[in-house]
Amino acid sequence: MLQFLSLATALAAGTLPHPASAAGLNEAATAIGLEYFGTATDNPELTDVPYVAQLNNTADFGQITVGNSQKWDATEPTQNTFSFADGDAVVSLAEGNDQLVRCHTLVWYNQLPNWVTSGNWTNATLTAVMENHITKVVSHYKGRCHHWDVVNEALNEDGTYRDNIFLSTIGPSYIPLAFSFAAAADPDAKLYYNDYNLEYGGDKATAALDIVAAVQDAGAKIDGVGFQAHFEVGTVPDSASLATILTSFTDLGVEVAITEADIRIELPATEEALVQQAEDFGALAEACVGVEGCVGFTIWDYTDRYSWVPGVFPGFGAALPWDEDLVEKPAYDGLLEGLGGEAE
Ligand code: G3I
Repeated sequence: MLQFLSLATALAAGTLPHPASAAGLNEAATAIGLEYFGTATDNPELTDVPYVAQLNNTADFGQITVGNSQKWDATEPTQNTFSFADGDAVVSLAEGNDQLVRCHTLVWYNQLPNWVTSGNWTNATLTAVMENHITKVVSHYKGRCHHWDVVNEALNEDGTYRDNIFLSTIGPSYIPLAFSFAAAADPDAKLYYNDYNLEYGGDKATAALDIVAAVQDAGAKIDGVGFQAHFEVGTVPDSASLATILTSFTDLGVEVAITEADIRIELPATEEALVQQAEDFGALAEACVGVEGCVGFTIWDYTDRYSWVPGVFPGFGAALPWDEDLVEKPAYDGLLEGLGGEAE
């Protein structure tokens, strides 16, 4: 705590623009047994030269998630016409750095093109559309995706299935079907269910456990569950509680990962909030490190310059470990400590 406070003070005073660290986030993560520490990115940002220089820094990032350009509206904007250029650009960048790729995402209620949401489908025709989409996209990236987020955000907060065109047309079996189509197209990719607000346990987490069991019972392959970890500062569960939740999933024989972490702050961010944010990020990392089968930790972009948060939560921001000027915040050292590294 004291360390964070003094760091925040130094940052505010401009005396320590780049907190020196003993190791980078990915170096610390892999040293302590995770597969990677990584970040999401998106195509518009790839023209920002200083941004890309840090994105390429494998001491911090051993993994990249494709933030938008593998979603359905980007990859199949009109039926059976596929567009991979933007997704390819992100995957190629990661491959050029030997960074693992989390591919994101195949079946989601959001960012669907109109031809999907307004189609007049039957169970059979929409199943065929979903199979074609998954098969073409996963085959295109075959061998290049360490993980695929196959189904994203299929649950409401109360644990019921979220309404979407797939649920209303096909029923809950769209989930195991999606996993089986993805497995057929790339047997080596780790296939994930990915959602937010699973981190507190309760009805939604229980329903996610049921999804894992349902996919397994259907005889389909599911390898992991992604905990998105989108939080407001001060609401992050303590690391022991989160570790218990994560373990309830690994007990089913799947791995887990923190997939989209950010911790938003009401603006302007106070020094106290930045210190709390550092502790919160540290608790998340510590929970993952403490669970056998928690394989990696990804933040949802690395800099406040490109966070989705201010656009969706007016008055909030500062959610990431680097500020808008690409300067490390106290959260960076919080993460590093949670990953067992040493902040200098
Ligand atoms: O592609 C259009 C572009 O043609 C248009 O000119 C522009 C005008 O606003 O919008 C562009 O679409 C935007 C899209 O990102 C691509 O940049 C959408 O408006 C915008 O809503 C969309 O936001 C994305 C959001 O998912 C959509 O729900 C965020 O960038 C992305 O970070 C966010 O990521 C999600 C994960 O996929 C799932 N979990 C939650 C996470 C945060 O919301």
